[in-house]
Amino acid sequence: MTQREIHLNLFMRLQGNHLSGWRHPKNRINEILDIDYYIEIARKVEAAKFDSLFIADGLSIINHPWKGLSWLFEPLTLLSALAVSTKHIGLIATASTTYSDPFSVARAFASLDHISKGRAAWNIVTTFHPESAANFGDRPIPEHATRYDRAAEFVDVVRKLWDSWEADALVRNKVQGTLVDYDKVHAIDHKGPYFDVRGPLTSPRPPQGHPLLVQAGASASGQKFAGAYADAIYAPGDDFDQTLAFTKQIREATERSGRPRNAISVLAALCPVLADTEQAAKNIAQELHELSTVDHVYGSMRSWFGLELSEVGPDEPIPHELLPEPDQVQGLRSRYEQILRLIKDKNYTLRDIAKHLEGSNDGGYFVGTPEQLADRLGHWWETGAVDGFNLSLPYYDEPLDIFINEVLPILQKRGQFRSNYAAGTLRDRFRG
Ligand SMILES: Cc1cc2nc3c(=O)[nH]c(=O)nc-3n(C[C@H](O)[C@H](O)[C@H](O)COP(=O)(O)O)c2cc1C
Repeated sequence: MTQREIHLNLFMRLQGNHLSGWRHPKNRINEILDIDYYIEIARKVEAAKFDSLFIADGLSIINHPWKGLSWLFEPLTLLSALAVSTKHIGLIATASTTYSDPFSVARAFASLDHISKGRAAWNIVTTFHPESAANFGDRPIPEHATRYDRAAEFVDVVRKLWDSWEADALVRNKVQGTLVDYDKVHAIDHKGPYFDVRGPLTSPRPPQGHPLLVQAGASASGQKFAGAYADAIYAPGDDFDQTLAFTKQIREATERSGRPRNAISVLAALCPVLADTEQAAKNIAQELHELSTVDHVYGSMRSWFGLELSEVGPDEPIPHELLPEPDQVQGLRSRYEQILRLIKDKNYTLRDIAKHLEGSNDGGYFVGTPEQLADRLGHWWETGAVDGFNLSLPYYDEPLDIFINEVLPILQKRGQFRSNYAAGTLRDRFRG
């Protein structure tokens, strides 16, 4: 067991996570399809000793000025390129349990794990955009509960496939003429409500056995799923008390599944705007705000929550009768619960929601100095509210440089963040 340290994951979206980050004069948006740019950033965060980097993914472009910029590369393809350009950093690729099949996913992640020598991780998502259904035969998106049921069976099958080759099945004995010991390669003969899969996998057992399983999805069903399967989970990062409560729920869900209480690393969303003084940071945030519009919020409300609010003006109160109970929302239910609280408790209008979401879709927007951020990260971590952070950036690259050069040294000096990688796989690092 290594000493407990803050886990740091880079949410790698080089177009920037702020709605208008791509418009910032310092954003290298012209290089957004250039693999060399991705390699440069991957090496930079590896030199800074981040745990991992993460590629989100979606299967459609939604009606939103920014979303066309969201998913530029298929994640496993991109991470294969980054795997051979780096040596230590973990590589988290998103793949959907709603619109893929377990055999292909097990095979792709086994390959990435071999290519990266034990650094692959799967961000398990239960695709929620109705626009994605239209790219897969125009079926309606399955209901929230069905998506999680399917996800559970999906992951069971993937794990069985990874286990279908015993660790020493690949013999390669030239003298005896034995390449594979087929007594150690097993069909899985899985038959379930969603999948029938015979197996075995075409690929020998991955170096990690099971690539790391990361979960994105935070409703009650999402937490139950995480409790049973996840090694790490993304958490909302707006508010300390809410994040603390979320982590407690995750620990309880983990125990209910018969796993050790701390088996899951909780990574809170974080999107910092940093400068030498608080006022200078506020000025940058204001600059970014002025480049943003309110229009995107209508598309997001529709695509994420199925809410049709086009009749409501941006500054009008949102009529409560247009707002369903969370368990009626089939899309991004966990985010809806947070937005609903802001509307009901703080009378948020659509303009307020747009502003709230513009900094970071996933929460954790922070405006201040490196010292203030280091204090906050240390506090959240020391108190057990989180195990680490999922760092997104309003735009690249200056904010990343400030984070690496001015926030990390403070955390390292306080013994909260590593100065070197320990030997081992990504799974070993998260277990530590
Ligand atoms: C922090 C976070 C990141 C997510 N990333 C993705 C993603 O990259 N691609 C995707 O299709 N869904 C993503 N999702 C959606 C979830 O997989 C899930 O479908 C959605 O959150 C609804 O489940 P929930 O109500 O349990 O949160 C993400 C959700 C969260 C909370």
